[in-house]
This record gives sequence, C-alpha cells and structure tokens, in this order.
Amino acid sequence: MSGDLSNEIFTEIYQAHLDYMVLVFRDQHLDREQHKVFGRRFGRLHVHPTNHVGTRDDEILVVKTSAKSTYTAGDTWHTDVTCDEYPPLGSMLYITETPECGGGDTLYADMYLAYELLSDKMKQMLEGMTAVHDGGIPYVGLYNTVPPEGGYARNEHPVIVTHPETGKKVLYVNSGFTSHIKGLKPFESRALLDMLYQHIAQTPSLTCRVEWQPNTLTFWDNRCTQHHAIWDYHPYSRYGERVSIVADKRPSA
Ligand code: SIN
Repeated sequence: MSGDLSNEIFTEIYQAHLDYMVLVFRDQHLDREQHKVFGRRFGRLHVHPTNHVGTRDDEILVVKTSAKSTYTAGDTWHTDVTCDEYPPLGSMLYITETPECGGGDTLYADMYLAYELLSDKMKQMLEGMTAVHDGGIPYVGLYNTVPPEGGYARNEHPVIVTHPETGKKVLYVNSGFTSHIKGLKPFESRALLDMLYQHIAQTPSLTCRVEWQPNTLTFWDNRCTQHHAIWDYHPYSRYGERVSIVADKRPSA
C-alpha cells in the first residue's frame, strides 16, 4: 500500500471501501511517508485536533498504549472526530506492535444496518433531528488533553445522514462525541441517545472484529461505521499510527 498503486488497483480498493466499509491489509511494510501517500490517494489528510500542540508530523496520529497509560484511544463506540464540521471520510490505522499477551482487537459496527434495523416509526422520529458533537467530551473528559485556544470543535450534524457516495441512510450519533439532540429536553435527549447506543452495543450482527497482527493496516469508511478499541491487554503494549482523510462534504440528510 505504498501509494505506488496502479489506477486500476486504486479503483478496486476505492469501490471495496464503499461496498465493505472496513478493509484489512495484512503484512504491510510502510514508512510514514508511504502511509501518508496511500491516504492522500483518497483526499487531503486530516490533522487530528489533539495534535494542535505541534508534533513532528501532525498528519500522523500516534495510537500508543503501554503499562503506564491511563486510557487507550477509542475505547468506546465512536466515529472519528465527528466534532469537526467536515469529519474524516475515512481513517487508516497501521498497527505495528500488538500486545504480547494477545488481544487489542477493534470492533467495527455498520451504521447503515443500525439505521435499517430501527422501526419505521423510530426512523420517522429521528429524521429531521440534529445532534451536537463536542470534541471536549473525549479529548478533555477522557484524555485530559489541553484544548486549543477557544476549545475543541463543536458542530451539529443530522441524526440520520445520507452517505454522499452510496446514497444510503446512516445512523449518525455516537457515544464518543454526541452531547445531545437539539430541541429535546435533556432527559429526553439522554434517553433517546442511550437507547440508540444500546442498539449498537447489543446487536452483534452489526459488527465485525479486526484481530490485528503486526503490520496490519485497516482502512474504514468513517461515514457509515463506528469502532471500538478493546483494551484487554494491560500491562502489555500496542502501537500504531493513523492517518485520516478529510471529507469534502459535510454530513447531510
Ligand atoms: C481509533 O482510531 O479510534 C483507535 C482504534 C484502535 O486503536 O483500534
């Protein structure tokens, strides 16, 4: 996946990510530049909000957990960076070190199917609703990072969005970033969000599970999936690097 891909192979991968949502490439040997070049085939690379303090290479998000960690990134169902006005269209996580004890898998959930499995009455109720997505929830509340001046991004997106390329509907709230649904009383918003999160967490048929091996790169369509990193390997370590690709369209109904 060094980026020296023929147009033919690129088109095949592009179509596969729309068809399957989560693609797993084993035995990849990439340096940072090659990882970024592969990402750029799909669009402009995203700079993660927590990289605002300036890293050597700010398009790379380091995903590192060790015995000293107090949290592991992504250890809850979420869609990447939905606090942004233009959340990433996809992310590519390249894991090079897996825990010696095993584990450290990542779960992915299909948000097309999550939408489809709702009753018609629930779909009708959610259509037209808007939710607020707040970067402070994970980045301050969970990761305790220092926010940039003015705070982390906070944006509104429809609760049900239409995937810009497949035209299919997607359930678009996630426990990582969504603070509330606009226009509802706080207790109504909480109950509705909790019901939708339970639906995701309690429906195994929505999910697949990636069992990482060193040098695995996984590319997911962030517009129609959620994922959950499983931290079941303390005190062992896991290391990877992620690039994400900025979408050129806002999530819209
Ligand atoms: C993330 O991108 O949320 C991290 C996922 C993982 O570490 O498996």
